Amino acid sequence: SIDFVMEERNKTLGEFIIENQKAHQYSSGELSKIINSIRLAAKVVNYKVNKAGLVDIVGAAGDQNIQGEDQQKLDVYANEVFIQTLINREIVCGIASEENDEFITVEGLDKSHNNKYVVLMDPLDGSSNIDVNVSVGTIFSVYKRVSPIGTPVTLEDFLQPGTAQVAAGYVVYGTSTMLVYTTGHGVNGFTLNPAIGTFYLSHPNMKFPEKGNIYSVNEGNYIQFPQGVKDYIKYCQAEEEDRPYTSRYIGSLVSDFHRNMIKGGIYIYPTSSKAPKGKLRLLYECNPMAFIAEQAGGKSSDGFTRTMETIPTELHQRVPFFCGVEAMVEKAEEFMKNA
Ligand code: AHG
Ligand code: MN
Ligand code: MN
Ligand code: MN
Repeated sequence: SIDFVMEERNKTLGEFIIENQKAHQYSSGELSKIINSIRLAAKVVNYKVNKAGLVDIVGAAGDQNIQGEDQQKLDVYANEVFIQTLINREIVCGIASEENDEFITVEGLDKSHNNKYVVLMDPLDGSSNIDVNVSVGTIFSVYKRVSPIGTPVTLEDFLQPGTAQVAAGYVVYGTSTMLVYTTGHGVNGFTLNPAIGTFYLSHPNMKFPEKGNIYSVNEGNYIQFPQGVKDYIKYCQAEEEDRPYTSRYIGSLVSDFHRNMIKGGIYIYPTSSKAPKGKLRLLYECNPMAFIAEQAGGKSSDGFTRTMETIPTELHQRVPFFCGVEAMVEKAEEFMKNA
């Protein structure tokens, strides 16, 4: 057998990016450069995450972010790595992050403000899981600016509906580290070979199964959920044909989503009396995941309307989030409507 050269049958992410650029005729290659920078930053963060218990990177950093959350050291570290990697390559005109109060203006070469893309990101998703060696992730989203080239980036460049995304993806630092992304032509997943620092195409053209039997929701908040969500959870638990469904909740959106896309499931973070607007952030978490979900044949909404059609009004806006297998999201929406 030639199993030991298995990896070499697969394309690398670097090769894939070049082919993708040619196939879809991105004029300038700027988008390819952005994905390349994210690939690089992901490897740097992966290296740190992997030895988290050995170096002084576990635990709280001592500050709170604008979300009112205690920042973990790894939140701050990942944020710095992704921002610096993008800034140093002078390929974006602006960056917005869960960990920064305001967006960052990137001047670009000769302070020309000539770059045309903005990146929005959740640098470290699932940060409450770092200390206990459970999978965490990174989420990113790319838009073309709407303000004129040659001028500083504006808030409007970031407050675009998810339908305007040109690329979105996530990195999951799990039992293996994967980078999964879309540029609107399907979803592809790449697994890192940590020994040589190369991502290989391991999951081409990822699709949600047509049916699923996993539901992921923090049921500790059950009492506080809207009636429609309570009813849907009871539906998941009922003894009927293919039910009860299986409950799986990691507490890292990236990991929960990743499992549900591969095995078939629905993720719900609804409103609750504690979080009246929901918890997850539209721009850094929900829209990129929604774009990936739809590109993989899944569906995403706030329980009533499509996530990507929400018109954002502020950078750190929160929304309820229902995302996963299309038929499952539609079922949950039915319960929301009839509650
Ligand atoms: P972050 O670590 O980026 O702040 O995101 C945390 C999010 C998400 O990853 C996860 O699914 C959710 O918060 C978990 O919230 P609960 O602990 O309330 O279930
Ligand atoms: Mn956070
Ligand atoms: Mn997050
Ligand atoms: Mn985060």
